[in-house]
Amino acid sequence: MLPLVDRPIIQYAVEEAVASGIEQIIIVIATGRSAIEDHFDSNPTLERWLEERGDIDMLRQVRRISEIGPIAFVHQKEQLGLGHAVLMAKELVGDEPFAVLLSDDVMLNRGGEPVTRQLIEAHTNHRGSVIAVQKVPRDDVSRYGIIDPVHDEGRLYEIGDLVEKPSVTDAPSDLAVLGRYVLTPKVFDMLEQTPRGAGGEIQLTDAIKMLMQEQPVFGYRFEGTRHDAGTRLGWLQASVAVGLDSEDADEFRAYIRGLDLRD
Ligand code: G1P
Repeated sequence: MLPLVDRPIIQYAVEEAVASGIEQIIIVIATGRSAIEDHFDSNPTLERWLEERGDIDMLRQVRRISEIGPIAFVHQKEQLGLGHAVLMAKELVGDEPFAVLLSDDVMLNRGGEPVTRQLIEAHTNHRGSVIAVQKVPRDDVSRYGIIDPVHDEGRLYEIGDLVEKPSVTDAPSDLAVLGRYVLTPKVFDMLEQTPRGAGGEIQLTDAIKMLMQEQPVFGYRFEGTRHDAGTRLGWLQASVAVGLDSEDADEFRAYIRGLDLRD
């Protein structure tokens, strides 16, 4: 719920999903995080009040949420890892391909296609699950799932192996999985069998690795910039990027130009 400029971080992921053509949104939340549900709830009384006051800017913000459409919430009672969180949505997803968006990974692609839409297109064209990848500095590989690319065709990689948070020496490449996936529902069968992995958690990466034994899984080097809003520096960088693309961009740019940036 930490805001980036004028919206909570999670809303960027929801808006990216909607802009990518996704019609049903499911948010998996830890029990007790009702602020997220409240945020996405429609609020006609507030809308009416803002309308009467003529607070058009705020009204636009509130309407932007209610226009998203119905959102289903699933509670994850125990925090057993990302794979476990995804498994919580199994019944609601049903027997269809679905996208996973980790909202701490803020994906910006100014003027271009939303990252999730890029993955959906790759999924449609290549008939397999697709995970978003980008190169990261070699020293950072142990923070991510890392793919072993065996073949590439433009932006698309065939994956030979996938390792969750490898050490710098064990990492098969510097291509990291970055918070967006389009997966076939078969992955739920794998998640049900996935033992605890790195960090003692049920890892989505391990389930995808099992999925690879039965179905094609590709890495897609997406177009756009990813900010890790889960870190202080990443959040600051994302805020500047969003600010430079906001209605206040001209004034904000002038402000930054006027800063004394010497050490
Ligand atoms: C998760 C995934 C990891 C991926 C990362 C991207 O890790 O397990 O494979 O590279 O997100 O942000 P987490 O950040 O939850 O530790």
